Order: sequence, then C-alpha cells, then structure tokens
Amino acid sequence: MAFTVQPLPGCDTFGCVITDLDPASITEPAVRKRLYDLWIEKGVIVFKGLADLDVQIGLSEIYGEPEEHPLLVGIDRPREHYVIAEIEYVEEDGDLYEINGEERGAYLPWHFDLAYMVKINHGGILRAAVLPGRGGETGFIDRIAAYDALPERLKQRIEGLRVIHRYLADATEARFGERPEKCLQLSRNISLAMEHPSVKNPVTHPLVYTQKESGRKVINVSPWHAVAIEGMENVEGDALLAEVIDHLIRSELAYFHQWQADDMVLWDNWRMLHCACGVPRGEQRKMRRTTIAGDYALGARLISADANA
Ligand SMILES: [Fe+2]
Repeated sequence: MAFTVQPLPGCDTFGCVITDLDPASITEPAVRKRLYDLWIEKGVIVFKGLADLDVQIGLSEIYGEPEEHPLLVGIDRPREHYVIAEIEYVEEDGDLYEINGEERGAYLPWHFDLAYMVKINHGGILRAAVLPGRGGETGFIDRIAAYDALPERLKQRIEGLRVIHRYLADATEARFGERPEKCLQLSRNISLAMEHPSVKNPVTHPLVYTQKESGRKVINVSPWHAVAIEGMENVEGDALLAEVIDHLIRSELAYFHQWQADDMVLWDNWRMLHCACGVPRGEQRKMRRTTIAGDYALGARLISADANA
C-alpha cells in the first residue's frame, strides 16, 4: 500500500498516524477501502504532510458525504467552503474561560459533535489554519476501550438506558464532566448557534450501543451535552450518569494531539470523544473542520411528559 501506518505516539489502544500518502492516490478503490477500514478499526487517523482544503474534502468523501454544519445552515458569513466549519479563537472574538485560575481561549470540554441532534455526523476531519505558539492540543478518548474497562456491575446497570442531550454554549453550565470555573466571553458564532431552531429541543441517545462493523460496544454519552438519564431524572440517575462519565473521561484513557502545521486529523464521531485544551489568552488558533454526514438511526427527539398529556 502506498502509505505508512504507525501507532499514535504513546497510545497503543486506538488511533494511527499515516505518512507518505500521495493525494493523487485517494481516488484508487484499494486505497479508499484501506483508509475506510483503518478509520473503523482505529477510531482516529492523523494524516501527516497533507493540510490542504481540497485534500481535506477529498479524504472526507471517502468516509461519507461532507455536509454543511447544521448550525451554519442559513447563517450568512464568509467561509472557505460551505462544508467547512471554521473554529477560531482570536482575543476579540472567541470563547474564553477561566480554568484552574488561568484564562484559556478556544477551550471545549469532552464531547462528540452533534450530540444534541437526532442525526449525529459519522466523522470529521480537522485541519489547522493558524496554530498558537503554546497550547491548542486536541484530546481523544476511545469510548469502546472505556466500555471494555467498565466494572461489570456498571455494564449491567446502563444496558438499555437512554441519555437526554441538549445543546449548550457555556461549558460552565454543563451538568457532568469537567467544568471551567468561569465563562469570560462567548464567541459571536456560538451565541448565534444558541438561537438556531435546530437546538431548541432536547434529544435522546442510547447510553450503550454496538458498532455494527465489529460488534464492539460503545459508551454513548457526550459529557458537555448530557442532561439526565431518560426516566431517571433524579438523584439516583444523576449519580449513575456521573459515575459513567467520570469513568469515561479518565486521563489515562486520553491521547492529546500536539498539532504540527501540516497535520489533518480524522475521527470516528460515533466512537470517540474529543476536547480542545485551549490556548493562553492572546494566542490565536484557527481550525477548519469538515462534517461527514451519517445517521446511526438510534437518536430520537425527547417526548416530554407535557407532550404526552
Ligand atoms: Fe467538536
């Protein structure tokens, strides 16, 4: 095969690094199949030496159909390409939090993308346009490995449960997982997203589901967006969900990618959590992400008690 595959540095449970991939070869069926199978098998692929808009879109098409980010539909602002979501921090306009007494821009807590939608995108490819002088790492956690490591009693307790998720801009308001101490600024884009009609109603997803290609089970909760276990919106349910999430986001399960200028990173959004560690105030970070469409067909709109009345 016309490229090299190596493990992620310091991570032997998931992910791989691909070097020496000739962009011209990504139209070849054998190359496409190998790249697709690696994604399902490994969960994360770091592509070295390929940071380019056309290659980013061409690679994304191997994994599904690149689509406009649902919260950008109908938003009139200049973009590199309609399938590119621009995730940017500059001091004048960017999310800024206080975390452990330090001001950090571009921070995003552990999550998977579109957890607040019924249809969750299958993946994304992230490319760096401007990297900060310090910080800016992207973290990944494999929710299959996290499930395998759950105590048996927890595996039994969470089988068949569903979790309510909803869109949340301000990470200090998250009910579970890591929360910054203070929100100092929210970006214009995230403030606009809060008003988007797509995020008005909560959704539910199964807390455990099975990856169809492999039969492996996946813990299926996005800590940033999780509200409660459906039907257990009480102290007991919250304690159970907190226990699962605290298990899921343990630091020993995480890989943190240190970006280099010519990197692109692909992940399986139906399997991985990711987070953005953030940058010191005054640094700049500009990322470009594709949204690879898909539907695992297990999401549902929350039917509230009021709606049943
Ligand atoms: Fe994300």
